[in-house]
Amino acid sequence: MHDKLDEHGPADLVSALVQRFSAHQASVGIIGLGYVGLPLACTFARAGFTVLGFDIDRDKVQQLNAGQSYIRHIDGSDIFEARKTGRFAATTDYARLAEVDAIILCVPTPLTRYREPDLSFVTGTAESIAPHLKPGHLVVLESTTYPGTTRDVLKPILERTGFRSGRDFFLAYSPEREDPGNSNFSTAAIPKVVGGEGAHALQLACALYDEIVTRTVPASSLEAAEAVKLTENIFRSVNIALVNELKVVFEAMGIDVWEVIEAAKTKPFGYMPFYPGPGLGGHCIPIDPFYLTWKAREYDLVTRFIELAGEINTAMPHRVVDRTIHALNERRCLASKGASVLVVGVAYKKNVDDTRESPAFKIMELLERRGVRVSFFDPIVQQIPSMREHAEFVGRNSVQFTQDVIAAFDAAIICTDHDVVDYHRLVSWSRLVIDTRNACGQRAIVEEHVVKA
Ligand SMILES: NC(=O)c1ccc[n+]([C@@H]2O[C@H](COP(=O)([O-])OP(=O)(O)OC[C@H]3O[C@@H](n4cnc5c(N)ncnc54)[C@H](O)[C@@H]3O)[C@@H](O)[C@H]2O)c1
Repeated sequence: MHDKLDEHGPADLVSALVQRFSAHQASVGIIGLGYVGLPLACTFARAGFTVLGFDIDRDKVQQLNAGQSYIRHIDGSDIFEARKTGRFAATTDYARLAEVDAIILCVPTPLTRYREPDLSFVTGTAESIAPHLKPGHLVVLESTTYPGTTRDVLKPILERTGFRSGRDFFLAYSPEREDPGNSNFSTAAIPKVVGGEGAHALQLACALYDEIVTRTVPASSLEAAEAVKLTENIFRSVNIALVNELKVVFEAMGIDVWEVIEAAKTKPFGYMPFYPGPGLGGHCIPIDPFYLTWKAREYDLVTRFIELAGEINTAMPHRVVDRTIHALNERRCLASKGASVLVVGVAYKKNVDDTRESPAFKIMELLERRGVRVSFFDPIVQQIPSMREHAEFVGRNSVQFTQDVIAAFDAAIICTDHDVVDYHRLVSWSRLVIDTRNACGQRAIVEEHVVKA
């Protein structure tokens, strides 16, 4: 057990820390240098804080210390600059938590194979922090999770040290709102919701984030802040499901859903555009809503909207495959078995290299199950990395984007609409194009052999 804080009360500690934060003299430890943690580290370093990044992945740590980015849309020059100024270093050594004033957790929160919250990364990280916790540490969880995680899961592990939250260390929750690849919103430009366990923790967390983001939004509790993040992502999931459903209905009526959305969004109030697609992807939208579903069961409640949205969104890859098979059969008047199909784009969204939960893999799996030979082309993801599911695709390489290669396929399915793809060429070289993103429509490419799906 550590020595507790006796000679100074928490109020003294808090005001000393607030001063260090506002003078940018504090040192910030960020645990998990992924899609969320890395941009956050760069933002703190850019603001003049000393940042120590912790990750269990030695390769990432090595690359970052060499001043390079391992994530495509995060500029290597940001890391290089932060290293040059001496304000950023990465490490695998948790003992170095002794050097920092604030500890921010940005570790993954996936689902188990039974689609229940998998908090093993959060608990594992907490276990690693505990031996190095010291009086005055501010600990902030940023990972997306259900209300109650910070108080009921994280806090007990940290308090096993004998330290008490609100007295010896301070505990807060602040959800990340990163939108990878969206150059309109850097980490600093996005307001940050903050919840604290008690007034001191809230004050400290707000004081820290006030220095790097445009605005902090204090919440009345940890749980309210946790619920904000889930609300944002459930909102997206439900609205995407709605337009996916509308797509199917309008299509049967001969109406183009994308045209409808473009026109609807001219309404200056009360409408916000969401777009249909081949299914949900990424680390957030397909996963986070089910954190609430799981927690709601404890209260004997059923999250019907969330479940329904999940059902509609999960059906989308099946629908894309059905449309593809149908179009193949219709055009070639032969069974699809033995056909060859090119999946264009395996990242879960455009212009990023993140393949987590990408619907492209479900589509590939369903096609292969039907005897179709499947290849992929992705200018950003050259090789399929290891993933939680779909081990069968790991290591497969992208084909080249040449006329000979593309023309050899019976059909191409646009799953991800990366900007760098030349869709005019793709359409002119292909026999059949199934477009799940309206990539062709957006570029005014209208051809008989382009089918929206
Ligand atoms: N990716 C997004 O767009 C996004 C947006 C908002 C919120 N989030 C949430 O942020 C959290 C992190 O997501 P991400 O996309 O950055 O994940 P990620 O997988 O890109 O990064 C997590 C990093 O944590 C590291 N890690 C895992 N366990 C560790 C441990 N015990 N100690 C140190 N490092 C460890 C991993 O090696 C990895 O580098 C999740 O809860 C996610 O839901 C993600």
